[in-house]
Amino acid sequence: MTVSSAPGKVYLFGEHAVVYGEPAVPCAIERRATVTVEIRDDDHVRVEASDLSLDGFTVEYAGSTGGRPDVDVPAPLVEAAMGYIDAAVEQARDAAGAPDAGFDITVESSIPLGAGLGSSAAVTVAGIDAATRELGRKLSPRELADRAYRAEAAVQEGQASRADTFCSAVGGAVRVEGDDCRDIEAPNLPFVVGFDGGAGDTGELVAGVRALKEEYDFAADTVATIGDLVRTGERILDPVADAGAGDRLAELGRLMNFNHGLLESLGVSSRSLDSMVWAAREAGAHGAKLTGAGGGGCIVALDPTPETLTALQFTPGCEEAFRAELATDGVRRVE
Ligand code: MEV
Repeated sequence: MTVSSAPGKVYLFGEHAVVYGEPAVPCAIERRATVTVEIRDDDHVRVEASDLSLDGFTVEYAGSTGGRPDVDVPAPLVEAAMGYIDAAVEQARDAAGAPDAGFDITVESSIPLGAGLGSSAAVTVAGIDAATRELGRKLSPRELADRAYRAEAAVQEGQASRADTFCSAVGGAVRVEGDDCRDIEAPNLPFVVGFDGGAGDTGELVAGVRALKEEYDFAADTVATIGDLVRTGERILDPVADAGAGDRLAELGRLMNFNHGLLESLGVSSRSLDSMVWAAREAGAHGAKLTGAGGGGCIVALDPTPETLTALQFTPGCEEAFRAELATDGVRRVE
């Protein structure tokens, strides 16, 4: 039996634009998905999930479902989760040269599904890591990130960047621009997350931005502007380039506010995300923005004081608010 865990993430800057080759800076957070894998003596895959912000489910199937399980699953979010788990199984079988390997898989996660905190990437990364180790192969974090990206891209029908999976595999703050993925230094960032209890459909939201971008030059310009904003944000994060400069948190916060406005204009915010963003700003946060694909789910704010956390807890439409520590470890084996 092998157990691996991988962290979720928030985007400091750059979601959606990263799909078109612009840079993005996601940061891993201490909310993890834990996947337990035990090899079977047939080619079946049995998946049990307990707390993926759902009621929990158990599914068993033979062979591969090709990312779209035709087994009876209780809800669309479960179907989506099953797609990622199945794609992870395929990657692990391929990496270990064991096409007929079967597994009993248990998924436990404290990352709400489809809420912008990288739940699917964390489950995919931890799943591939645990399954390949169970088959006697250990992948490097980069190899793992690459396979997790391929799994995610297969489920999202080609519409995925490497950002979520790379961040979850290596941990910390990272910078992703096309195929160029690296970890970067970041100051201590006092993240506060607000969750509206909902979820967005990443595939649909990405397709919506793509359609806008193809229809209007100003939407394409908005995507390019997000890229410029990220490059400005990176200079503030860089401790050498930024030495002696002003209040870094205030500057980063201002850019987060700008980034949220640009995402809003691309149609990926929602009433509840906007009201949490405004509640955070009014409580004195340096800045706040939606994180991830949007449509519902989470916002992230920067505030070292307790004010934003308290304000979010009393904001109508905010189901849960919490402080998110940077996860310096990416995927790791759980002993
Ligand atoms: C989703 O967490 C982030 C998006 O940029 C999609 C992606 O990068 O694959 C919207």
